[in-house]
Order: sequence, then structure tokens, then C-alpha cells
Amino acid sequence: MSLYTWEELKNFVDRCTRCDLCRTRNRPVMGRGDIKSKIMLIAEAPGRMEDQQGIPFVGRSGGILDELLESAGLNRDGIYITNINKCHPPGNRDPERAEQEACMPYLKYETALIRPKIMVCLGRIAAQQIIRPDFKITREHGLWTERKGFYLMGVYHPSALLRDPEKIDSAKEDFRRIREKLDTFL
Ligand code: URA
Repeated sequence: MSLYTWEELKNFVDRCTRCDLCRTRNRPVMGRGDIKSKIMLIAEAPGRMEDQQGIPFVGRSGGILDELLESAGLNRDGIYITNINKCHPPGNRDPERAEQEACMPYLKYETALIRPKIMVCLGRIAAQQIIRPDFKITREHGLWTERKGFYLMGVYHPSALLRDPEKIDSAKEDFRRIREKLDTFL
């Protein structure tokens, strides 16, 4: 049983002042998708476009994410996508550790609400926050870690694939493995 509904959580996030990112954000970006999904994708923080629209992954990296999902026969309707930080860091910098910690309660409530079996960390920041502080994406992407009944995997962040398109095939292979695991829960 979760403490809050998605709407209640969104209301908290919309009014949040737990860290200084609230001073520069345009709109907080609550996670989105199917709250009954067995899979949750977690990235680091909204980008500029997401900050304008209040929706995760609507910018260029969202296009890459859709390509990865589609290559594995998935789409946004059946998954839940969120970020460690719900507010855009100015200048698109990485969220600081203290900012991440300030925002983690929301992710914990989202996880309690959705109760996913699989958590996929998009990029280093999310993987180091969720899986292990010294997680190395280049070495460990695509590998499963099992913890307390959750299956965790770190994969390349879609914006890393924009910068380095040569990695896209291996990212698609990771998503194929994610789909395979997801099918075991359906
Ligand atoms: N990059 C992220 O890390 N999160 C988003 O929601 C969009 C881009």
C-alpha cells in the first residue's frame, strides 16, 4: 500500500521548495506513464524542453528513448518514466548530490506507488544514485543487479547516444534484454 496517490505526489512536486532548483525551474517534471507498470525508467533531471512542458523526455533525447523502446517492442504507454530530480538544473548541469538527496523522497514514494519489478537507470547519475555509487556505465551497462526483489540495470543515457551514435546498437541490445526480463513478469 502506497502512502500517496500519483495526483497527491504531483501536487507535492508542483509546490516543492526542498532545494534551490525551485528558484530557477520553470515547471517541475513529475514522472509519467502507466502507474501499474512492472518497469520504471529513471533518468537524472529534466532538460530545458522538459522544464518548459512539465513532461519527461519531450526533447531530442526523448526521440532517442522512443527509438530504443520501439526497438524492443515497447512504448511509453506501458512503462513509467521519471527522474531523480524533478527540476531542471540551470545550464543543464548535473544535479548536485545534495539536490539529488533532497528529491529522493519523491522517487521513493513513486516506487512505493508503482511497485515495479524492473528499474532501469538511464545514465551514470541515476545508476550511481540507485545501483552503486561507483557504477561505471561503459563497463556495466546491460548487466542485471538483483536487490530486494527488484531487477536493476544501468544503460546509456539517451543524450549520450546523441553525442555518440555508435553506441546505439549496444543500447538496443540492452533494451532487448530488458524486454526479455519484463516478459517473465507478464
Ligand atoms: N534528460 C533527462 O535526464 N531527463 C529528462 O526527463 C529529459 C532529458
